[in-house]
Formats: sequence, C-alpha cells, structure tokens
Amino acid sequence: MTVIAGPKSAMAIHQNIDWIAGAAERLQERNWGMTWAASEIQRLIRSGDALAAIEVSRHGGGPFRLWGYALFRAVATDGELLSLAVHRSTRRSGVGTRLLRKCRDELLSLGCDRLFLEVHERNRGALSFYYRFGFRRSGRRSSYFNTNNNKFDALILEIYLR
Ligand SMILES: CC(C)(COP(=O)(O)OP(=O)(O)OC[C@H]1O[C@@H](n2cnc3c(N)ncnc32)[C@H](O)[C@@H]1OP(=O)(O)O)[C@@H](O)C(=O)NCCC(=O)NCCS
Repeated sequence: MTVIAGPKSAMAIHQNIDWIAGAAERLQERNWGMTWAASEIQRLIRSGDALAAIEVSRHGGGPFRLWGYALFRAVATDGELLSLAVHRSTRRSGVGTRLLRKCRDELLSLGCDRLFLEVHERNRGALSFYYRFGFRRSGRRSSYFNTNNNKFDALILEIYLR
C-alpha cells in the first residue's frame, strides 16, 4: 500500500516513523549525491516540516517492509522532492510512479501547483523516470554534488501539478 507518513498519518504508521526513517536511510543510493540520515528524516516527518509517501507491506501482524519512499515538503505553492528511492528488488514495477502520484495528490491538497527537484546529472535511470512522469528540465546547479571527491552538476526538474 502507498500511504503518507506525517504527523496526521494512521496510528500504525505514526508509531513506526523511527523504523520508517531507518529503512529509508538504508534504501538510499550513495552514488547519487545527497543522502539523508535517519535522524533527519525522522525529525522532518515528526515535526511536519516534510512528509513522506511510502510503499509498505505487512503480512498479518508481522513487521512492515518498506519498498520505497518519497520525502517531500511544501513551501508556499511549491512542492520540493527531497529524496526518493525504491528497493532494488522491486524497481521497474511501478512503485516509484505510485509514490510520485501520492506525493502530487498530497501537494495539490496542500495548495501547491508545482513540484521541483534536483537530480544528479549522471543519474540516467532517475532522469528517464522523471521525464516519463512528465517533468521538464528548468535549470542546472553547477558542482552541486560531491561524489567520491568529484563535483557534478544537479539538473533542476519541475512539473506543474494542475
Ligand atoms: C528512479 C527510481 C526511483 C525509479 O523507481 P521505479 O519504481 O523503478 O520506477 P517505475 O517502475 O515507476 O518506472 C516508471 C517508468 O520510468 C522509466 N524508468 C524507471 N527507471 C528507469 C531506468 N533505470 N532506466 C530507464 N527508464 C526508467 C521507465 O519508463 C518506467 O516504465 P517501464 O518500466 O514500463 O519502462 C529507482 O530507480 C531508484 O530508486 N533509483 C535509485 C535512487 C534514485 O536515483 N533516486 C532519485 C534521486 S533524485
């Protein structure tokens, strides 16, 4: 199921925000620049400064599994995607698209009309994914990422939500 984790999320999710933040930290790929510590993800979600669309499954009363997450925030009428990752074993099966749709719906309900993000210029897989979703390139930030002591640009992508 794809749900929102935030201050108002269902009890079962709310009680597991620390776990979700830890699992989200582990899903991130170090090659693509900016990574978020579990403590920071947890703080952002608990405070309401950011929300996360998460894809989780649970069998019976057993533990949750996190298959992907999209961490985002609303700043006035702009939404910003801070981080997105899908578990390697489940890529190319629509999880990333469901997460972005959830994120878009939530931002629309918060009054946003645009979503933007920064992506590593060499992250071809993610670029194809975002373009396929409908994002367009709107800018570039020079030397934004430092990967293994090499500087790479970030491409700024945006999509209008309405
Ligand atoms: C980018 C990412 C989130 C995509 O998630 P996903 O669940 O695999 O995406 P979807 O299955 O919804 O893909 C939808 C479409 O996007 C495109 N796409 C997705 N991944 C792609 C890839 N690696 N190469 C080319 N096209 C891709 C395809 O058109 C795909 O449709 P198809 O599978 O029918 O061809 C995932 O690959 C990931 O976690 N990557 C590592 C982390 C990362 O780079 N995050 C982005 C940082 S800004």
